Amino acid sequence: MIFKTQNLTLRPWIEDDARCLYHFAKNPNVGPIAGWPPHQSIEDSLNIIKTVFSKKETYAIVMDDIPIGCVGLLFHPDTNHWWGEGACELGYWIAEEYWGNSYAVEASKVLINHAFNDLDVSVMYATYRIENTQSKRVLEKLGFEYYMEMTNENYLHEFFKEVAMKLEK
Ligand SMILES: CC(C)(COP(=O)(O)OP(=O)(O)OC[C@H]1O[C@@H](n2cnc3c(N)ncnc32)[C@H](O)[C@@H]1OP(=O)(O)O)[C@@H](O)C(=O)NCCC(=O)NCCS
Repeated sequence: MIFKTQNLTLRPWIEDDARCLYHFAKNPNVGPIAGWPPHQSIEDSLNIIKTVFSKKETYAIVMDDIPIGCVGLLFHPDTNHWWGEGACELGYWIAEEYWGNSYAVEASKVLINHAFNDLDVSVMYATYRIENTQSKRVLEKLGFEYYMEMTNENYLHEFFKEVAMKLEK
């Protein structure tokens, strides 16, 4: 599926995105706070496109033909937590060069409407690390409300505190 917003196109990731993805996703300010390690090479990015980004309802956020971020709906068993029947989890990141334009909000709104109108989703959750005020703001702008605080373990096996936010249909 392809979605268009005022500034953005959401479309499935393609293998040709690997070079751009590596350029943006090697930045240590983007991945680790979202729970994934900075990409190590174009090969690494290509592998992520083929495995993680090929999952259903995961989209490249494209502006002027450049994939500048990613937004997706995760369903059990790919979610970070079990949220119950009828639930999914929203995830997103934007390349640092494009921060501050509300693109994460613009892209997420489309997928939220898609989830509640076209898919069998009645409630959506999203989590952010407690220090990630940028992501907290995105979720507030989308209408999510505080649900609970949780402890999770990252890819380096370090424990961290995160906040879960909830949005009902
Ligand atoms: C979180 C993220 C997706 C926000 O994307 P975005 O399109 O820049 O979002 P917004 O433009 O709505 O900005 C959200 C907040 O970030 C802050 N912000 C904006 N530009 C910023 C910048 N250049 N540097 C630091 N903070 C900035 C502001 O507080 C802003 O809130 P405001 O609009 O009320 O002022 C993006 O920062 C990102 O990808 N971060 C790393 C990955 C990540 O955290 N993903 C989410 C995991 S839970």
